[in-house]
Amino acid sequence: MAGDAPGYAADIKPLFREKDHRSMTFAFDLWSYDDVSEHADRILERLQEGEMPCDGEWPASQVELFERWVKTGKNP
Ligand code: HEM
Repeated sequence: MAGDAPGYAADIKPLFREKDHRSMTFAFDLWSYDDVSEHADRILERLQEGEMPCDGEWPASQVELFERWVKTGKNP
């Protein structure tokens, strides 16, 4: 569950759809903890700008959850 310190497996990975995963393999693997951790700053930027996913921005609550995951140390 999304507590104070969300975790990748429980809270973040389920946010990425099959389509997101497939569309982004050219850059990174959204279903990989290591990849999402490594590219987290750019991913957060795109989510906040509403540019990704390409077919419609995330609700603010989801973007905030991702941001909280980054700021609390990217727990697995
Ligand atoms: C939550 C889901 C997604 C996230 C977090 C995401 C994140 C990103 C990021 C961070 C980049 C920049 C990559 C780089 O420059 O290295 C990018 C680029 C791109 N993404 Fe996504 N993406 C998502 C879903 C999608 C979907 C669903 C599509 C289209 C079907 C898509 C199409 C593209 C394309 C074409 C680019 C390259 C052009 C550009 O930089 O705007 N992405 N994405």
